[in-house]
Amino acid sequence: MDKSLHIDYQEYDAIEQLSAADRQLMQAAIEATDGAYAPYSHFHVGAALRLKDGSVVRGANQENAAYPSGLCAERTAIFAASAGRPEMRDYEALAIVGRNAAGQLCEASPCGACRQVLLEYEQQQGHPMRILCHLAGGRVRVLPSVASLMPFAFDF
Ligand code: THU
Repeated sequence: MDKSLHIDYQEYDAIEQLSAADRQLMQAAIEATDGAYAPYSHFHVGAALRLKDGSVVRGANQENAAYPSGLCAERTAIFAASAGRPEMRDYEALAIVGRNAAGQLCEASPCGACRQVLLEYEQQQGHPMRILCHLAGGRVRVLPSVASLMPFAFDF
C-alpha cells in the first residue's frame, strides 16, 4: 500500500514578521552565534530555546581538535537547559541561525543527531516544540514540531 507524509509549516520573509516572542527568540539565536567555538569549520551556529516560563537559554556550537567530540548549537542549548533547570524541562520553541566565515547570517537546520535529541524532550513534555530556522536572506521557516522533522524516529 502506498503511503505519504506531509508537513505543514510557515515561511516568513523577514524576522520582523514574527510575533514579538519569536522575534526575540531569533534575535537571541543571532546573538548566541558569538558563543560559537568553531576554529575548524568557521561556521558559527547560534541556538535559543524558550522555556515554559518565557526565559531563554542559549547555545552555540563547540568544536574540538578531536572532531566528533564537538557539539552542535541545538544540543548545547537543550542540554544546558535540561541540566541547569530540570524543573523547567518544557520547551516551547527553539530558534537557530548560522553565521558563515564572512560573518553573514545564513541558513541553519537541525542535523539528524540533534533532531533525535530534541524529539525525546518533545515526547517527554507531551506537546510540540516549534523550530524556527533562519534562512538565507533573512527569511525564517517555522516548523510546527520536532516530530514533523523526524518521522519514523528510533525509540525503544
Ligand atoms: N552544527 C550545528 O551547530 N548545528 C547543526 O544542526 C548542524 C551543524 C555545527 C557543527 C559544526 O561545529 C559546524 O556546525 C559545521 O558542521
